[in-house]
Amino acid sequence: GLSNTKEMLLKANREGYSVPAFNFNNLEQLQAIIEACVEMGAPVILQVSPGARNYIGKDMIPFMAKAATSYVAASGSDIPVALHLDHGPSFEIAEDCILNSGFSSVMIDASKYDYDENVALSKKVAEFAHQYDVTVEAELGVLAGVEDEVSAEEHIFTKPSEVEDFVSKTGVDSLAIAIGTSHGAFKFKPTDDPHIRLDILKQIEEKIPGFPIVLHGSSSIPQQYVRIINENGGKIEDALGIPDKQLHEASKSAVAKINVDSDGRLAFTAGVRKAFMDNPAEFDPRKYLAKGKEFMKKYYKEKIVDVYGAEGA
Ligand code: G3H
Ligand code: 13P
Ligand code: NA
Ligand code: ZN
Repeated sequence: GLSNTKEMLLKANREGYSVPAFNFNNLEQLQAIIEACVEMGAPVILQVSPGARNYIGKDMIPFMAKAATSYVAASGSDIPVALHLDHGPSFEIAEDCILNSGFSSVMIDASKYDYDENVALSKKVAEFAHQYDVTVEAELGVLAGVEDEVSAEEHIFTKPSEVEDFVSKTGVDSLAIAIGTSHGAFKFKPTDDPHIRLDILKQIEEKIPGFPIVLHGSSSIPQQYVRIINENGGKIEDALGIPDKQLHEASKSAVAKINVDSDGRLAFTAGVRKAFMDNPAEFDPRKYLAKGKEFMKKYYKEKIVDVYGAEGA
């Protein structure tokens, strides 16, 4: 069955790694994620954004999660698997995911509200979720780029002075912070020095020692996938992400969960585009989707080692 993220995240911090939190949107992506994590012996948080929830259909989601945990058990693996709502926009959606879709963990993203409203809504979700043994992630600070349909021009870094008050008032189980990451494939300009503010992370950690911290917007935007996409009829320009080395550093700290979505999309697209170009006469979706799945699975396996340090955890 599914696990909540409580022990997963605490264990990651005790042992100096972080837990892969991969967004999924369809069967092939879920297969790639779960096969990669089983083969690497890594715990996994399967994340569903509100957009993914609409795309998959909310009634189908618990059965996809069930398929994933059944696959793990049938493989003889004992990796913990969580089903997590990513960027939950309201109490009502978090409640529906908990009561009707079997989620073991939810994020309430009230980072767009002012501090007191963020505290109040995050606390309300935490109190409700904990009755069902469901863990809760909340967010302080605002990531640049598009987040929850709100777009911020500038990063609003999490203030280290607020985190202790926030986690004690809300009772949440983990805290997403903004330290220079952003969602999507265009995190930096070609003229930037791509980096995250590990100095702010350190200040945050000192305020809430050992408390599980979450990084969003952490795709590394591997250039080989951008190149394959562009060599096979695509056109993606100036896509840049977070260097793996910095995320690996963060994994050794109190960062216990790192979210990746865009990289999976790039790997999938690269595989499918290549399959189409290599075999123009092919029209069996199983053939080209298998190539997309193969690219994603290879990516997830590499990332588990290079970023999370979660292999054999
Ligand atoms: O945080 C954003 C995630 O990558 C989800 O993206 O809303 O397009 O599913 P989405
Ligand atoms: P990326 O767009 O960097 O993959 O971030 C994903 C994320 O934060 C999901 O919540
Ligand atoms: Na960690
Ligand atoms: Zn996110």
